[in-house]
Amino acid sequence: MKKIVLTGAAGNLGHELRATLASMAAELVSTDIAEPRSELLANETWVKADLAEMDQIAPLLEGAEMVVHFGAIVDEKPFEELLGPNYIGAYNIWEAAHRHGLRRVVYASSIHAVGLCENNRGIDTDEPHRPDTFYGLAKCFAEDMGRMYWEKRGLEAVCLRIFSCTPEPQNARALGSWLSYRDLRQLVTRAIETPTVGFTVAYGVSANDRAPVSNARVGFLGYKPQDNAEDWAETLLPQARPDPADLAQTRVGGPFATVALGESGVAGIKALSGK
Ligand SMILES: NC(=O)c1ccc[n+]([C@@H]2O[C@H](COP(=O)([O-])OP(=O)(O)OC[C@H]3O[C@@H](n4cnc5c(N)ncnc54)[C@H](O)[C@@H]3O)[C@@H](O)[C@H]2O)c1
Repeated sequence: MKKIVLTGAAGNLGHELRATLASMAAELVSTDIAEPRSELLANETWVKADLAEMDQIAPLLEGAEMVVHFGAIVDEKPFEELLGPNYIGAYNIWEAAHRHGLRRVVYASSIHAVGLCENNRGIDTDEPHRPDTFYGLAKCFAEDMGRMYWEKRGLEAVCLRIFSCTPEPQNARALGSWLSYRDLRQLVTRAIETPTVGFTVAYGVSANDRAPVSNARVGFLGYKPQDNAEDWAETLLPQARPDPADLAQTRVGGPFATVALGESGVAGIKALSGK
């Protein structure tokens, strides 16, 4: 492949993906509003740009085959704060990809697009949107845009509904929701290398015994997760009696399911992990 563009390249997950993506293309253009966390790779260039500004974003995509779109504000906030980076930013990526004739967008969606679904329901990739926050609603907007750009303009998209991507599972919820960095790298690699994807949604989750979501319909991606949060079960299982009336315990969005719209959900996740 000639060129891949990575947004959110200074973020936790974007930073993890840089080397993998650089190995898959002659040129990697990494972009973020922030500075890189480490020295650039041999075939990598870094451009500081604001996702909300089309004139900063569009030129970066020229000559690329795919864009891996991970840049966003990653928490619940008032709608007005998410509008630029998460909503307009996603539009700018799809529209610029269309204008420059890219083949595919690989998008970091989120479990919060379906965050109000029950944990015990066995949800799959056809589950209708059920966002838990304005943050999750932005992911629904981008997924729907991805489907529309595929159906109207032939621009492919793989939307990865990432669950909890951390170096190790951090709390009891993560026994179901964890995505290891190793499995993230494989999932993004499969999203890029699978020859044809049309419009596809896949869950970003490791091979956890307790995963409440299923990728059974998207076996064609060839994603075979290697890690399983169950290895941490003994230390992470809650000592307290669970509360079946607590939506944070019974919905896939976890603490985002109960947080007031516009207020931080990440704060609730940190509290779960005792941090
Ligand atoms: N970490 C997870 O478990 C998780 C779960 C679900 C979805 N996701 C999604 O994965 C992606 C990456 O998440 P992360 O954990 O690395 O988050 P992060 O906050 O570490 O990284 C996001 C990056 O986006 C950049 N950014 C924010 N606003 C921007 C703007 N206006 N213009 C340009 N860049 C901007 C930030 O500077 C940051 O480097 C996000 O889209 C997030 O919604 C992550």
